[in-house]
Amino acid sequence: MRDKVLVARQVPDAFIEQLKQFSEVEVWQSELNPMPRALFLEKSKDATVVITTLSEKIDQTFFEHAKHIKGIVNLAVGFDNIDMKLATENGVIVTNTPDVLTETTAELGLTLMLTTARRIVEAARYVQEGNWKSWGPYLLAGKDVYGSVVGIYGMGSIGEALARRLQGFNCKILYHNRTRKEDSERTLNVEYRTLDELLNESDFVICTAPLTEQTKGIFNRTAFKQMKNTGVFINIGRGGHVIEDDLIEAVKSGEILGAGLDVVENEPINETHPFLDMEQIIVLPHIGSSTVQTRNKMVQLCVDNTKKILEDEEPITPVNI
Ligand code: DGY
Repeated sequence: MRDKVLVARQVPDAFIEQLKQFSEVEVWQSELNPMPRALFLEKSKDATVVITTLSEKIDQTFFEHAKHIKGIVNLAVGFDNIDMKLATENGVIVTNTPDVLTETTAELGLTLMLTTARRIVEAARYVQEGNWKSWGPYLLAGKDVYGSVVGIYGMGSIGEALARRLQGFNCKILYHNRTRKEDSERTLNVEYRTLDELLNESDFVICTAPLTEQTKGIFNRTAFKQMKNTGVFINIGRGGHVIEDDLIEAVKSGEILGAGLDVVENEPINETHPFLDMEQIIVLPHIGSSTVQTRNKMVQLCVDNTKKILEDEEPITPVNI
């Protein structure tokens, strides 16, 4: 019998055709709605590999159902949706999609910085709503990214790609990371800071880090209080890094100027979430790596990793072997 690959989200047919060359394939036929949990668990029962997104929680219940599972192939660089300890204990390989999305995600980070600093969403709405009556000396005046101090929290490949871009804006670039990155300090002219120093000194603080037990809720009331009142917070990592009530309070009370978020704690955001009523907070629907070129590369990497797992070869981008 051929192995079964369960693809939990619709992807272009060309990729499914590739998978069909070496396995049975079942695909959830919706791009925007996740597979209902009960159906995902049911369909996982006879799957050898599941291709998952951030919406699929891989936990104890999953492993109780997926008795034949060999690989979890995650369509993302982050894998905080997966209980890695359980996966490894169950002898299941996990793969992700690093590298191929680095530049695209850094570009979105820079876009969010500029969009937030220059009040672009507010400005476009101002025009759409017919408010543009004349040029004004301080009309929608924002804040320069050029020449500013930028604190990058998480100096992985996305942090580095962002630093390269910010050099073109003549920024002073600080970073905080689990470990010192001496190579980056030399090649990218970035300076290490403790988290407290980074928060204190930066005009923009941008989070690019993966979510772990250690980083959960790290951007909280205490952190925002340490930022400049003119500071802008940007998050392209994960929503779980932020205590959202504390961010709302920090913006409302003028502790910081505003925030640009590509990620929030509970995605998709509830339409009644207070962020959505705040001019100084911009929320995007988690589109960091979303260009057609990059998403194609991510899906292709998932196909290639799946093939390797089914052929008992080492996958291209394993996380836990
Ligand atoms: C990732 O790859 O982890 C992104 O956040 C999802 O696009």
